[in-house]
Amino acid sequence: MELSNRVKNLKPSITLEITAKANAMKKQGIDVVGFGAGEPDFDTPENIKKAAIKAIEDGKTKYTPAAGILELRDAVAKIFTEDYGVEYSAEEVIISCGGKHSLYNIFQAILNNEDEVIIPAPYWVSYPSMVELAGGKPVILPSSIEENFQINLKKLKNAITPKTKAIVLNSPSNPSGMIYSKETLHGIIEIVKDKEIFIISDDIYNKLVYDVEFLNVLILDKSLKDKTIIVNGVSKTYSMTGWRIGFTGATKDIISAINKIQSQSTSNPTSIAQYAALEAITGDQSSVEVMKKAFKKRRDLAIEKLNTIPGLKCLKPDGAFYLFPDVSEFIKKSKFENSVDFCKNLLEKEKVAVVPGSAFGVENTFRMSFALSDENILKGIERIRNFIINA
Ligand SMILES: Cc1ncc(COP(=O)(O)O)c(C=O)c1O
Repeated sequence: MELSNRVKNLKPSITLEITAKANAMKKQGIDVVGFGAGEPDFDTPENIKKAAIKAIEDGKTKYTPAAGILELRDAVAKIFTEDYGVEYSAEEVIISCGGKHSLYNIFQAILNNEDEVIIPAPYWVSYPSMVELAGGKPVILPSSIEENFQINLKKLKNAITPKTKAIVLNSPSNPSGMIYSKETLHGIIEIVKDKEIFIISDDIYNKLVYDVEFLNVLILDKSLKDKTIIVNGVSKTYSMTGWRIGFTGATKDIISAINKIQSQSTSNPTSIAQYAALEAITGDQSSVEVMKKAFKKRRDLAIEKLNTIPGLKCLKPDGAFYLFPDVSEFIKKSKFENSVDFCKNLLEKEKVAVVPGSAFGVENTFRMSFALSDENILKGIERIRNFIINA
């Protein structure tokens, strides 16, 4: 029996093979340093866990409205209002099963067949597939380390066609940790402002920025509220990746379209996780500062060591918990063909798991998370050095 073309055309994750291999090696007792994870290594804070336990004890274990409980939608609206300086109400917010689900539903709500979505590279792995699953066409905007992984405004202008429906911005970025400069953001605003193009602002790392101010298009131009679709959630900021709660902020029309999709697909996100998320965003915020401080220290430790490796260049990320080294100089001189080949061999020879840059649309790079202990960061980077020097 045939499967759907939709699924047949879906590209399998190239990270999967490496992750599976790393896990199998770990199971065999091999000392693998895993830089692959896309999540904080901290536990979910106690106050949040307690709120979930209380929700269970209080019997908050039944269906909620598909869009999420009103208290949480209200609290998210309040935070969006504070963060962006633009008024949001609960009707302009919907709760989904993680930021990933928020994004999936956004594309389902706004795209018709062949509509184009501009995705600047390096991009988070799932954007292109999500666009394709909604019948749309991803249009990738390339960038390089020489451009500081900023959006090239000329390329952006040239990429816009009558079919362009949206552009996705993700700053701080997964995988590069880079943030878009004020000039880049102003440039994007100038180009998109008078066109019927949505700006999907994936701000999931907005609270994890180091010594810089978080900015997005809406903060810089409040008149963009109707065309900006905000994505956020609790996964990264509160180390709650397993709880699956994401937020979308958009016009009432878009929110009610997503509500329709949710009501016919997932229904509400888990009731207990919603109460935990409510505590996360309205309760004590000190755990965020503790985690941020640790990440900043690890970033500084890792970047200093990494940039002493010959043939490797890495920009200092301003946010998130990823480093995105460029190894084109090394790969050109080596026997390795590309980033997948590099990463497979790095895992086999030195037992270090990183994610190939081709998964994020930039060849000859790789992504490594710094959400692991200082000891493992240092051990892993030494192994990468050995690999490059001895290759
Ligand atoms: C840029 C970006 N957007 C969205 C998500 C989705 O987050 P969640 O775990 O809440 O689905 C991630 C998670 O890795 C991410 O890195």
